[in-house]
Amino acid sequence: MANELLFVVDDDRSHSKTLTLWLEEQGYRVEVFQDGELCLNMLDENPSAICLDFNLSTGGLSLLKRLRLANRDIPVLVITSDNALDSAVEAMKIGAFDYMVKPLDKIRLTTTVRKAIEMHTMALKIESLRGELKKTYAYKSLIGQSEAMKQVFAQIEKVSGININVFIQGESGTGKELVARAIHYNSSYKMGNFVAINCGAIPENLQESEFFGHEKGAFTSAEDSRVGKLELAHGGTLFLDEVGEMPPNMQVKLLRFLQDKSFERVGGNKKIHVDLRVISATNRILERAVETGAFRNDLYYRLVVYPIVLPSLRQRPEDIPLLVNHFLKKFNGDMHKTVVAVTSYALEAFLRYDWPGNVRELENVMYRAMVATRGDTIQIEHLPLEIQRFRNQWLEGQAGGESLRPEPPSLSSIRSDSPANHPPALPSPDPGQTTMEALERQAILDALKQTRGNIPQAAKQLGISRATFYRKIKKYRVS
Ligand SMILES: Nc1ncnc2c1ncn2[C@@H]1O[C@H](COP(=O)(O)OP(=O)(O)OP(=O)(O)O)[C@@H](O)[C@H]1O
Ligand SMILES: [Mg+2]
Repeated sequence: MANELLFVVDDDRSHSKTLTLWLEEQGYRVEVFQDGELCLNMLDENPSAICLDFNLSTGGLSLLKRLRLANRDIPVLVITSDNALDSAVEAMKIGAFDYMVKPLDKIRLTTTVRKAIEMHTMALKIESLRGELKKTYAYKSLIGQSEAMKQVFAQIEKVSGININVFIQGESGTGKELVARAIHYNSSYKMGNFVAINCGAIPENLQESEFFGHEKGAFTSAEDSRVGKLELAHGGTLFLDEVGEMPPNMQVKLLRFLQDKSFERVGGNKKIHVDLRVISATNRILERAVETGAFRNDLYYRLVVYPIVLPSLRQRPEDIPLLVNHFLKKFNGDMHKTVVAVTSYALEAFLRYDWPGNVRELENVMYRAMVATRGDTIQIEHLPLEIQRFRNQWLEGQAGGESLRPEPPSLSSIRSDSPANHPPALPSPDPGQTTMEALERQAILDALKQTRGNIPQAAKQLGISRATFYRKIKKYRVS
C-alpha cells in the first residue's frame, strides 16, 4: 500500500499538518491543498483518495460536487465538525465514500483511508476485467492461436478505436468479413449498423442507387424514393466487399463520397452527410489492378489507410486442430449430435491438405463429415476424396508404395470436449515409419505440440531458424 498518493484539502494548517503526519507514517505520499480550485487542477496526478475538510472556507460541499462532476471515481473522505452532521449526510448523498467527525482519531482515519483505496482498486480491477470480457466476446468467433492470427488480433485491437479506413486482404474463406465485423463491434460505431455491399455481385447499372439511394422518379422504375446503403450505415460501418470488382464509374463516385463523406441521392439535389467507418476487402492483389489501371490509384490510397493481411489456412496449420474442435462443438449444437472426436488419420489428412478454400472449406468439410458419420467420431472415410488422397499420397511416398493400412478404430486425437484454447494433440506418425525423415517429422510434431503450435518457440526448441522450420513443415506436409 505504501507510496500511494493522497490529497488533503484543508485550510486549517495545524489540522492538515497532523493529518499529513499520520498518513505519511503509514507510507502514503500526501499533498495538501488549502484551496479547492488547486486540488481540482491537480486531479491528473491521480490520487488514490482525497480527504476533504467540509469546513473549507471556499465551500466543502461545492468542491465535492465539482469533484463528482469531474467524473473521476477517486474516493472522497469527508471530515466534518460534530455540529455539522447534516452536511455529512448531504455529502454521502452526493457520493462521498465516508465521513469522519472531528476531533479525528488516528486509527479511524488510517483504516478508512485504507478501505477507500482498496475499494477503489477493486472497482478499477472489475472495470478492466469487464473490458477483457468484452474483448473475448468480440473475438469469440475468430479462432486462432498462431503467431499470424495473434498479429491480426493485435491489429483489430489497434484500429478499432480510431476511425480510419481499413483494408482487409486475404484469400477466399480466410475470414475477411468476420474480421470486419470484429472491428465494427469493437469500435465506437458498434451502435450503428454493419452494412455490407458486395461490389462484385450488384449489376453495374444498379450500383449507384444501391450506394446512394434514389428519389422518386429518378429513373423509369423508381416508383418510390429509396434509402441507399450509405445512409443505412450512418453511425456504423460500411463494408465494401470485393471492392476490386467495382466498375470504373462507381470508383469515381465512391472517391468523391470519401472526400467529404457527403453525397446526393440519385435524382436528388440535397447534400446528405453521413458519419461512418469504411472497411473494404478483396481476395485479389489490388496493387496489380492499380498497375494495369483497372482500379483507380487515388481510390486505392484512400481505402488502404490501414491494411490487414489475413493468412491462408495453409500458412497456419497449427490452428487447424483448434478450428476442427470449434466446428465440432458448433455443429454438435446445431445438429443435436454428440460427435466427440476426429481420428488421428483424419486429422493428418487435414494437416496435409492445402485448403484452397481456407476456413470456409474446412467448415464445409466438417459439416458434411458430421452429417455423414453415424457414430461419435469422424473417420477418414467421412472426408471428401481429394482430402483422403492427400494422406494416401503421402503414405505411398513414405513407404515406397506400401498399401494403405485400415484406420485403427478409435484413435481419437481431437476431442470436442478439449478446451478451445488448448489445441489437442497432433497426430503421431504412422507406426512402422523408421526413416530419418520420420524421426525429423516426429520431432517437429512434438515441438509443435509442446509449444501449443507456436512456431517461433518450436523452432527455437529444435535449435533451427524459423525459415528452416517452415521449410520442414512444408516438406513433411504438416501443412
Ligand atoms: N478465424 C476463424 N475462426 C472461426 N471461423 C472462421 C475464421 N475465419 C473464417 N471463419 C469462418 O469461415 C467462413 C468464411 O469466413 P468469411 O466469410 O469471413 O471469409 P471471407 O474471407 O470473407 O471469404 P470470401 O472471400 O469468400 O468472401 C465463415 O463461416 C466464418 O465463420
Ligand atoms: Mg467475404
